Amino acid sequence: MNFIKYFTVAALALGTALAAQAADPLKIGLVLPMTGPFAAYGKQIEHGVRLYLAKNGDTVAGRKVELIIKDDAPGTAGDVSKRLAQELVVKDNVDILAGFGLTPSAFAVAPVATEAKKPMVIMNAATSAVTTKSNYIVRTSMTLPQITAPIATWAAKNGIKKVFTVVADYGPGHDAEGQFKKTFTAAGGEIVGDVRVPVKNPDFAPYLQKVKDTKPDAVFLFVPAGELGIAFMKGFEERGLAQAGIKLIATGDLTDEDVLDAIGDPALGVINSFHYAEAHKSPENQDYVAAYTKAYPKDRPNFMSVGGYDGMHLIAEVLKKTGGDANGDKFIEAAKGMKWMSPRGPVSIDPATRDIVQTVYIRKVTKVGNRLQNVEFDQINEFKDPGKQ
Ligand code: PHB
Repeated sequence: MNFIKYFTVAALALGTALAAQAADPLKIGLVLPMTGPFAAYGKQIEHGVRLYLAKNGDTVAGRKVELIIKDDAPGTAGDVSKRLAQELVVKDNVDILAGFGLTPSAFAVAPVATEAKKPMVIMNAATSAVTTKSNYIVRTSMTLPQITAPIATWAAKNGIKKVFTVVADYGPGHDAEGQFKKTFTAAGGEIVGDVRVPVKNPDFAPYLQKVKDTKPDAVFLFVPAGELGIAFMKGFEERGLAQAGIKLIATGDLTDEDVLDAIGDPALGVINSFHYAEAHKSPENQDYVAAYTKAYPKDRPNFMSVGGYDGMHLIAEVLKKTGGDANGDKFIEAAKGMKWMSPRGPVSIDPATRDIVQTVYIRKVTKVGNRLQNVEFDQINEFKDPGKQ
């Protein structure tokens, strides 16, 4: 009798402890540029995360999601991002680190995740090597080699023989340049020039003049989405490169829907490769675009918002699998091999690299109605990051 009584009391105590644990909020610390030159990154990723919670409810595996956003503007200063991530771990006691607009921020925070054994969900930063910097990292955006190889293949197959590469001088730019050269030359193409431009306020005029004088068939461009792309397009137009018969090919960062209206008609006809388009035709994306537009009528859904949306999806599904446990090792094990239908198309997490496997589309900037859109016309399915092969 006593035994049964003891057992009942113990079971009740255990149940209460579990319930308390289950009721603990799930604290997600988002490290994002919310102000400064890359403020749009933070805005778009936050939009995506909030849209997921609005659609699916803000309680996962019994735990209410609490977002704590830290502005690591400008987003390129690793020491700032690292200090904020440490604060999130030590002072705010977050369960998960997430966000990361730019590569320097992700690189700087990786050791914090490793030391604290916290899951780190990368929602944008796209240099291939990021996921190798901590075993607690999983990425829901893309990698530069992944989105670059398809446009290099397309160019070689479509009469482009000589290319001049222009990239931003940091991790993602180096990845883009390296992959473009590798894929394009393997397919018989020739690289006739390359430049790396500063990430901060580059003056494109001298580079564009050099490109014009070299007379390539095309320029391949990677710059981080935003102001740099707008400035490049302005220079390309003003210096008459298109009139000189030079084509422009790029990764879709250039023709990101967040800045496509600002670039305007000079973007028409630009062929680029990418993993997400607002114009992607699928029922999931139709729902996503409708929900986005209703919630944020002044903005257009873009790849960063989808990186945030899918990152939140991954967190929610992992927590369902672990019964609400956000322990770093359990989280990463549960994330490996996960598959789902994203607004961008089917995706999965490569168990070997913790990077995303996805369709990469070839698109052409076209006017649809009175709006510039990236219209998909070809695709490579289930494409892994070639940067790690
Ligand atoms: C990055 O810093 O990793 C990055 C930023 C913007 C992009 C792509 C990559 O459009």
